[in-house]
Amino acid sequence: MKAIAVTPGKPNSVHLEDIPKPSVSDIPDGQGVLVRVLKVGVDATDREINDALYGAAPPGDEYLVLGHESFGVVEEVGPNVRGLKPGDFVTATVRRPGGSIYDKIGTYDMTSEEVYFERGINLLHGYLTEYFVDSPEYIVKVPPGLKHLHVLMEPISCAAKAVQQAFEVQRRMKVWRPRIAYVLGAGQIGLLATLVLKLRGLDVYTMARSKPPTLNAEIVAGMEATYVSSTETPLDELARQVGKADLIIDATGSSKMAFGAMGALGHNGVLVWTSITGGNLGTEIPTDRINIDWVLGNKLLLGSVNANREHFESGIKDMALGEVMYPGVIEKILTNPVDGLDNYEEMIRLLVEEKSALKVYVNVADE
Ligand code: BGC
Ligand code: ZN
Repeated sequence: MKAIAVTPGKPNSVHLEDIPKPSVSDIPDGQGVLVRVLKVGVDATDREINDALYGAAPPGDEYLVLGHESFGVVEEVGPNVRGLKPGDFVTATVRRPGGSIYDKIGTYDMTSEEVYFERGINLLHGYLTEYFVDSPEYIVKVPPGLKHLHVLMEPISCAAKAVQQAFEVQRRMKVWRPRIAYVLGAGQIGLLATLVLKLRGLDVYTMARSKPPTLNAEIVAGMEATYVSSTETPLDELARQVGKADLIIDATGSSKMAFGAMGALGHNGVLVWTSITGGNLGTEIPTDRINIDWVLGNKLLLGSVNANREHFESGIKDMALGEVMYPGVIEKILTNPVDGLDNYEEMIRLLVEEKSALKVYVNVADE
């Protein structure tokens, strides 16, 4: 069967690979779930893997099948699978456990090991192919009423984890009543984080460079959050106008912005970094000022990567609630479909060149 793959370490090596079709019996103990892939989303991670900035093939293979944002339909299940049946719409988690205690209790997104295993990213093949097989613990049901939002399940799991982690860590406060949130970046993660935070009742200011009218500004407004163009209103100006934030989620993909956000966080607040910045950039920052500010304000910086099953499930619930609260808004993120695995060159071209693309995804097969 066809798969879109790269040769890790070799820039711009995206190509079509012919790989064997998996079967339910590939997973021991009758626990295989065979999924027919319908759609797969791609993002900056895929672009950076194709740029050879990171990404590794499974041991013994020269290629890595791309794709970590999956949406498909269960085709067949092994005899001991419970709770999933042919015809169910599903997505799959990305990371697979290593050996640490966190991996063993289902929180592989918090592994304490340096080496991590992620389908389509590191050491495991991804979903940009026709079928994949996995154990039920990594397969998450998507309600049929959300199938039009298909490839957004993985991205919202990352947004859900970032917000959940912020609330979790803020239990240090005994009482924490956050009011103002800033979301920096209005790409898919920024927009989905905006949704998750709105559903928690915060006043959300979502900031990106471009001046409205733009699609992302329209989506932010559709979620009853406030879009702020940093070109018109820089971050420190926003903080002067509405007050510093209790919670900031950075999803800009820019380490400069991630550090820049430190000046806009209020006392006792938490800043969450979610961007994977594959480059090697450095930047000058006012360390004395930040240092005194953060000490005197008991502020916290938190990194958040990936997501486990729990975050997929809570993200999908938020998606359902979001559809009810803001009907038709979330699907506007799904801007750029690509027709079929054969069109992998167009997929990469859109990722690299189409700056206005909020979401590039491949229509692999029809329902
Ligand atoms: C994926 C995450 C993954 C991270 C680091 C992101 O693009 O959405 O699931 O953990 O890259 O590889
Ligand atoms: Zn991703």
